[in-house]
Amino acid sequence: MRSVLVVNCCIRREESRTGQLLDSFVSALPEDCEVEELVLMDEQLFPLTGLFFDERQALLETKDFNDPRFLRAHRFADADIIVIAAPFWDLSFPALLKLYIENISVDGITFRAVDNHLEGTCRASDMIFLTTRGGAYAQGSGQEDMEMGSRYLKALSKFFGIARYHLVAADGIDMEGADVDAILYKASEEAAALAEGI
Ligand SMILES: Cc1cc2nc3c(=O)[nH]c(=O)nc-3n(C[C@H](O)[C@H](O)[C@H](O)COP(=O)(O)O)c2cc1C
Repeated sequence: MRSVLVVNCCIRREESRTGQLLDSFVSALPEDCEVEELVLMDEQLFPLTGLFFDERQALLETKDFNDPRFLRAHRFADADIIVIAAPFWDLSFPALLKLYIENISVDGITFRAVDNHLEGTCRASDMIFLTTRGGAYAQGSGQEDMEMGSRYLKALSKFFGIARYHLVAADGIDMEGADVDAILYKASEEAAALAEGI
């Protein structure tokens, strides 16, 4: 079996159009995939600051990676496939997802220092990012340089040592005159096809 870690940051839950893409993707996964879903809205995630930060630094110094606070990082590092679903907010994605990333980016679990450089140590072969965007930011839109969500996650996937990065984006769904159903249908089909071939 292949383990699939789904990181669900669809803040509007059942109302979320990004959630629709996620449903299409998960439903189309091959039978040898075992899905574990982490719903970030239900997680107690804290920013690295104050005592929470100091305690973490102390644990890293002693290389005590068994502390429960590193559980999420271990789950991320051990998954065969990573799926992240989040809407496009403020030119990237919700801060909740950044909090999660801050908590799983652990030297010694998801990456490590070798000689003079950092090397990703995650097991996953693929990272998939599913998103919906109010405006149009896809390649050829003339606005691609404003898109900081997918570009950041693509770099992060490389940083963590995950070889393949895939993006499925439903673009421009809040724009005047947009055929929302058609845009979502096309992106959902794309997500399903990607899952089938993963
Ligand atoms: C807090 C917030 C910030 C947003 N920021 C942007 C933005 O910077 N650019 C954009 O095109 N759309 C923006 N949107 C619109 C969303 O990208 C769009 O409605 C998306 O489909 C929401 O996904 P959901 O249905 O999964 O919640 C924003 C929406 C919200 C609620």
